[in-house]
Order: sequence, then C-alpha cells, then structure tokens
Amino acid sequence: MALLLKLAILPALLALAWADFPIDADFLSDIVDTRNDDDVKYRLPESLDPVHCEIEITPHFDATADRPAFSFDGIVTINVIAKEDGINSLILQENVREIGAITVTEENGRLIDLNPSSPFERLTEYQFLKINLRSGVTLSKNGKYTIRIEYVGHMNETPLSRGMFRGSYVGKDGKTHWYAATHLQPTHSRQLFPSFDEPGFKSTFKIIVNRPANFADTHSNMYAESRSEPINGLVKEVFYTTPRMSAYLVTIHISDEFTIIADNGDAKRPYRILARPDAANQGQYALEVGPPLTKWLEEYLGKPYYEMAENMKNDQIASPFWASGATENWGLVTYRELRLLYEEGETNVVDKMSIGTITAHELGHKWFGNLVTARWWDNVWINEGYASYFEYFAMDAVDKSMDLADQFNIMYTQSALATDSSASTRALQHTVNTPTQVSGHFSGISYSKGAALLNMLKHFLGENTFKKSLNYYLDEMKYEYANPDDVFRGFARAVQEDGALTQFTNVNITDFLSDWVYEPGYPVINVDINMNTGNIYIEQERFFTTTGSSNQVWPLPLTYTSASSPDWSNTRASHVMTSKSYNITKTPAHEWTIFNVKQNGYYRVNYDTHNWELIAEALQKDVNAIHYLNRAQIVDDVFALMRSGRMTHALGFQILDFLKKDVSYYSWYPAISGFNWLRNRFLHLPDVLAEFDEILYKYLDAAVTDLGYEAADSNEPLTRTLNRFYVMSFACNIGHEGCVQHATQKYTEMVNGGKVDPNIRRHVYCSGLRQGSLAQWKVLQVLYLASNNQADEVVKLRGLGCTSDDQAVKEYLEMVLTDAVKAQDRVNAFTYLYMGDRGNAQKALQFIKTNHNQIREAVVGSVRFNTVLANLAAYTDEEGLQDMESWLEENKDSIPEYSVGVSAVASARANMAWGTQNADSILKAARGSAAMVLPTALLLIASLFALLMK
Ligand SMILES: *[C@@H]1O[C@H](CO)[C@@H](O)[C@H](O)[C@H]1NC(C)=O
Ligand SMILES: *[C@@H]1O[C@H](CO)[C@@H](O)[C@H](O)[C@H]1NC(C)=O
Ligand SMILES: [Zn+2]
Repeated sequence: MALLLKLAILPALLALAWADFPIDADFLSDIVDTRNDDDVKYRLPESLDPVHCEIEITPHFDATADRPAFSFDGIVTINVIAKEDGINSLILQENVREIGAITVTEENGRLIDLNPSSPFERLTEYQFLKINLRSGVTLSKNGKYTIRIEYVGHMNETPLSRGMFRGSYVGKDGKTHWYAATHLQPTHSRQLFPSFDEPGFKSTFKIIVNRPANFADTHSNMYAESRSEPINGLVKEVFYTTPRMSAYLVTIHISDEFTIIADNGDAKRPYRILARPDAANQGQYALEVGPPLTKWLEEYLGKPYYEMAENMKNDQIASPFWASGATENWGLVTYRELRLLYEEGETNVVDKMSIGTITAHELGHKWFGNLVTARWWDNVWINEGYASYFEYFAMDAVDKSMDLADQFNIMYTQSALATDSSASTRALQHTVNTPTQVSGHFSGISYSKGAALLNMLKHFLGENTFKKSLNYYLDEMKYEYANPDDVFRGFARAVQEDGALTQFTNVNITDFLSDWVYEPGYPVINVDINMNTGNIYIEQERFFTTTGSSNQVWPLPLTYTSASSPDWSNTRASHVMTSKSYNITKTPAHEWTIFNVKQNGYYRVNYDTHNWELIAEALQKDVNAIHYLNRAQIVDDVFALMRSGRMTHALGFQILDFLKKDVSYYSWYPAISGFNWLRNRFLHLPDVLAEFDEILYKYLDAAVTDLGYEAADSNEPLTRTLNRFYVMSFACNIGHEGCVQHATQKYTEMVNGGKVDPNIRRHVYCSGLRQGSLAQWKVLQVLYLASNNQADEVVKLRGLGCTSDDQAVKEYLEMVLTDAVKAQDRVNAFTYLYMGDRGNAQKALQFIKTNHNQIREAVVGSVRFNTVLANLAAYTDEEGLQDMESWLEENKDSIPEYSVGVSAVASARANMAWGTQNADSILKAARGSAAMVLPTALLLIASLFALLMK
C-alpha cells in the first residue's frame, strides 16, 4: 500500500495535509484501537503449511437461475503439509457468502472422513472456517493433504469493502461498463477465497477465471497460459503459477473493456499500463517512469525483478474505484486512477509527482513486501517503511528534476515527527490482532517513521553499507517472511564487514535499531552552548506536543555545523549520544551552531536562547546563511517547540521573521502547516483571526511577489510550481487581496470559456466560488461531471465545496450521496465543504442530522462516518457544537458513532480554548517580531554580555 488515501481508519484526515485540520489526527485511533488478551484468537494456528493454492472463479454480473447478480462461484484447492501430528480440525479463514462442498484428501487422492454431523463450522466472529475430521481421524506430521472447497462469494458494491468489488462507469459511447476487481490487503483474501490469510503463510497460486465471453481478457498477477473458446457463454482463462507469495497479493481484474493503454513492447522486460479505453491518452507518463524505476531498484537491491519467477510481468492498472492510493499485487499493481493516469493540461504537478512517487513505492514493494514480507501486520513497517523510503529515493534517482531527495524531509520526516509526538503514538513494532487493529497500524508511523528511520541510517552508516545491508537481508530472506531481527541481522553483518561504526565504541547497531523499532516516539535535544569554552551540553527527552513524560533514551547520531565554517555537505555523525546527557567540545567562538545537519536525524533540536538569537540574526541578514533544509528544520521545530510550550511565542516569532524574506519552498511548506495549525485555533475569534491574517499577509509578501500568480516560465523548477501551488492556496484561503483578485478574475474567465492552468486550479476554483453565485457554481459542476481525468475531477470536487451559496451547498450535499461522487471520495467531499467555507459546517450538520443513515451507507461504515463527524466538529462553532451534542445525546442508542462524536466535540472545544488562551501572546509576538531583532550595535553589546555569561 502507498500511504495517503489508503488507510481504513482515518481516510480523510490522512488524505489531506495533516495541518489542514484543527483536530489532532491521533485522537480517533485511540478510540478504535481498543485491545484485549482474547484478540489473539483472530490469528490462525500454525499447524498447517499451505504450499500451493488453485482458485477458480466464475463471476455473475447478472442474476442467473440460482445465483444473484454480483456474486461469483469459487472453487479453491489448497495443498497443505501438516506441521504436527494429531490434527483433527483444519482452520483457515473465510468471509464469503456461502460454503458448499468440502473435501480433504491424502496425497494419493484418498478421501479423509469428515465429521458426519458437523463436517465444518463457520466461526463468523473470527472469520474462521473450521473443518472437522471424523472423531479419531488425524493428520500425520509432514503428511501432504489437499483441501477443496466450493463456495459462493460477493462482488461488493463499493471498493471500500475490499475483497472482490464491482465498479461501473458510463463510457464515451454512452453505455454503462462493468468491471470487478479485487483488493485483498490486508485481511481480505478471505472474501475472495477461503485462505490462509496472514502474510506469514506463503504459497504459489494458480488462478482460473471463467469470464463472460463478451468481456475483455481478464488480468491477474501472471499472464494467461491459455484461454478457451467460449463454452456456454464463458471463456476459461488459466493463468501461470505465481511466485511463492502471501495471499493478500493475489489479484484478478475482470472487465468488459479494460485494455492496455501503454506498453514498452519489450518482451524481456515488459511494462504495461492498463485502464479503461476512454483514458487511453493518459498512460504515457506512467510508462515513462516505471521501467527506469524497475531497473534502478534491481541494481540497487541486487535482485533482478524479471527473474523473481518464470513468466514475470510488470503491469500497472488504473481502477476508477479503489479504496487506497495503490496496492502492490505482484505482477499487476492496482492504482486509483488519479495515482497512475496523467493528462497534460489537466493533471496538476502535485498529482503528477504522486504518480512518480507512488509508482516507485509500489515497485519498491516488489522487493520489500512481495519477495520478503512482514511476518504479520504488527511489523508492517518492514513493508511500508521501505516502500515509502524508495518512493522518494528511487524516484529521485530516475528524475532529479523533482528534487525528491530533498522533498523527503518535508513530506516524510516532518510528517512523521508531527504524528509521532502524541502521547498515544505507537512504536513501529506494535501488537495487532483483529482486522480493525491491523488497519489501524497501516498508519503514518509505519510509513513515515519507517522511512525516516531508514534515511537516518543511510546517513549514519554511509550509503554503501546501508545498501549492502538491504542486499544481505533480501538475499537471505527471499520468498520468506521476516521479523525485525532479520532486518537487524542484515545491518549487523554489513556494519561489521565495513567497519562502518568502529569509531563509535558506544554503539551496537542491533541495540540501536531495537531502540528505534520497539520504542514509541522520538526525542528533542536541548542544546546549551558555552561560547566561551566551546562546551556544548546536550540533554535528550522524549518530545510530546502536549502532555506526557517518559525516561526513554535513544541512540542519536549527532551532526552539527557552525557559522565560522558552515559545512552542509557532511551528514555523517561526529558523535553518537547514547545517554540522557552528553557533552561535546567545539572551538570556542561567538557564533551560531546548528544541530541535525539537513535534518537527516529523526529528532528535534532546541537551543539556549542566545544561540537561537544568533540564528535569528543570521537569517535576518541573509536567509542563505543557513542551508534550505535546515531552514525547513528550523521552521518545523520552532512551531513544534512553541506548541509544546518549550519556546516562548516571542522567541519563536523572532526566529520565524526571516520568512518575510525567504521564498524557498522548503521553508514555506512547513510554515504553511504551522500557520494553519495556529490559525485553525482562532476560527472562533474573528478579531484575532482578522489581525493574524493581516500579519500573515506581510509574511507572504516576498513569496507571493517572487512566485507571481502564474508561472512566467513554463520550464521553471518543479519545486517552484509546487511552492506557488501551496503558497497561493494558503494566501487565497486567508483572504490575501492580490491572490483573491487574481483568482476570481481567472474564475470569471473560465466561466466565459477560458482554460485555467491546472497548477492554480485548486485555489482559483475555491476563491471564485466562495463569493460566487449559484450559476457560477453550476458551471464548475458541469465540468466536474464531464471530467475524464480523475486527478482533475477531485480538484473540481474540492472547488465545488468552497461555495457559500445556500442552494449550491444543498445540491452539493445531495450530490455526495449519489454516484456522481465516488464512494472513495465521499468522506473528503464533506470535509472540502467546511474547509472551503467554515459557515458550511452548520449547513452540513443539519444535513447530517437528517440523513445520517444514508451517509453511513454512502461512506460504507462507521469507521468512515466517525471521520465525517470528527472533521465536522473541528470546523463547527460553539453554537453548532451544542447542536451536535444534543443531537448525539438524544440519539445515543441509534448512532453507533456516538462516543467518537462526543470526543470530537470535546476535542474541538479544547482547540478553541487553546486559541483563546494563547491568542494575545501569539498576536503580540507575531506583531512585534520584526522590531525585536536588535540593531547591530546593540547586538555587539549583547553578544559581549553573552560571552561573559557563558
Ligand atoms: C550487539 O548486541 C546484541 C544483543 O543486543 C548481541 O547479540 C551482539 O553480540 C552485540 N554485537 C556486538 C558486536 O557486540
Ligand atoms: C557536561 O557539561 C555540564 C555543563 O557544562 C557539566 O555540568 C557536566 O559535568 C559535564 N559532564 C561531563 C560528563 O563532562
Ligand atoms: Zn505500500
């Protein structure tokens, strides 16, 4: 899985930048993640080892005499080896519609007697199928047996149910086209076939599909070995055997017209893009990035992809409906359309970049996830952390123009630091048992912290040793499952061989890794510099945004550089801190020192006030005195330090003042998050908000002027376009006059038939509609409904949410419950509405109160409806919260989301209270920040003073 949009628990919160939300993303997972000792009952016994599995599926899109429409017949045949004597019942997992005939046979084909009164039981709570042998009959250790099960399955209505689901769309030909796809990760193989549905059970798979003769060829993990002539209206398609793999990687895509839209035509190293034919013009970019990514990964990881099994292919298919961003099914990766299909002039650069990075993520999974697999989902970072790391670094290797190695910091390291700072954060290795817990652990931590840890290791060990350790691990564990110890062993061997850490006698790499993998959270280091003596005293403590305390100590690779000889290129640690406090001696000098060079270490840094002041002064004089990645670090750390009460607002804003002169993407990306976070806590204080926004316009001036409202040069660097995308969205959103004027003018041009550059559409639509009429809203709605590029379709949907027109809001809300908004987009669709205009929260609340049953159904279940309520509360004023509260109380028994709703209300109030409490202090600091920077003469005196004191 790739992160973003792919998580079952918090789809909307994570789909959008975390800082867009006034509510802390972790509060929901607390509620969902309840556990008890009985949960291990959800795990399969390990007494049987599946070796090979044959699955034959006959889909029914239409009802037949004895089958309802959207069902399928299945026959699964599993060859197993008994791992012990005395087995009298065989347990596997299933969550299908009906179980029919079951047989168990010995290797010689002889039937084994089942219990005549109860041949099998369906333990639905655990989704187990228990096959009972006749009393006294047992399997023998190392004996080979075959289990054959006939069954009937569902084609679910939406992708959000996973398993096999159906999708339909109207083509350019005006006809409705159907398809069925499968999404089995993480615990949904059992919906497609009774299975050993845990990643640690690996076997080979042979898939057979009997598809309607008038349909297009079915696609699966492997090429078809044969396709029969139609018999009774069905074509029998037999696929080659897969490599040995986990059941969640199985996939089938049955459709009436999906086709190959791009193909590299290379018989030895095939790479193809598949989609609905109407998207035939959108596959070129995906084809451009995929083959070089595959090649680079092969060389870096030392295992050729196309030799992983016989007949390997490397297909990528775009599905209009998909629960997550993409899923790494071996041989046929499935993507939500917008994550694979690019259309020039329609798709914006943010989405284009995602196509590259997510392709890299999914291809990275071929090694980390498919070839070697997490034993169980408690260590899913072994799959997702690596895939997320390569998402940026593999893509960077094949396209330098995207600056992805640098973007890794703001996109992954900083987002990990943000989510990992709550008291309820999980360690990378975190016990999970039930399907709900499993989905919960497919969280930001497994992806972003996993990746950030790998990045820290690369810089700590040096890239050669890092790479060698991955090669050892993959070579030793290929086609098997892995635990953290297996990862650690690869590192230990490479480190030992290369002598990579010999200068650090206090470091044992295995212990180092254990600390990072088994401990939750991360530290902030408090750095106190005596500029007189050069002594640097460092203390570490776990960083919590709000409350929490702990005595944890992490092994920290330290890097630093100082003003007199700044060195931003050396990112190898000079010291490793393995205790609570630590001293370093540098050359005494009255100068700034910065720790965590280019933020490659996974920790935050706080300094004594004087060092901070010197940093602020240096940045005032020349922002480029400090490397842009360390400016990104400073911005992100300063906001976090202020939030956690470790830094005064006065000092924080004194430092942040340099943003008024800085136009770097790397500074502004975290700055926008930080400013939004504060701003979202002032929504209930109109006067404060108005003044704060005035201050922010001054911060934005230089960046807005430098970027311009539109690109002057169509060949500008990608990060400049990205910077404009985020800066203008922010500026327009907070009412920056120039931005709003430009955007409304563009919107008017569009209404009159003009075309808007996709890279500014998000804020042009939003600003245009916020003040616009119903008629103007309808113009965009028509374009939305006609859109043939999904990335742009979602931008338009988001834009439609920005209206404040009552009738338009009403029509928008009604539309969300229809097929005009895809099930996967509905939770976000609600959020777009209140993000677009806070006043819409009230209107949405009234709609949700009346229609909650339909909404729960439309977003497919309570987990997602929880998110709708939580986001709603976050944007609702006190009056609305009271309304929401009394509705929840009055319907306590009929609203399953009651407790989440109540917590969301409390959380929203806590955020407002925080704003009320801190408003004066923040305004004062923000207002006065420039004045606080001392003139040079004074500074000289101040520094002399400091020199005496320290
Ligand atoms: C590192 O520690 C592990 C146990 O945590 C131990 O097994 C191993 O021998 C140690 N390695 C070295 C080089 O001391
Ligand atoms: C480290 O420096 C601090 C502050 O200067 C001092 O109190 C402490 O004794 C030093 N510790 C060591 C181990 O040198
Ligand atoms: Zn993934």
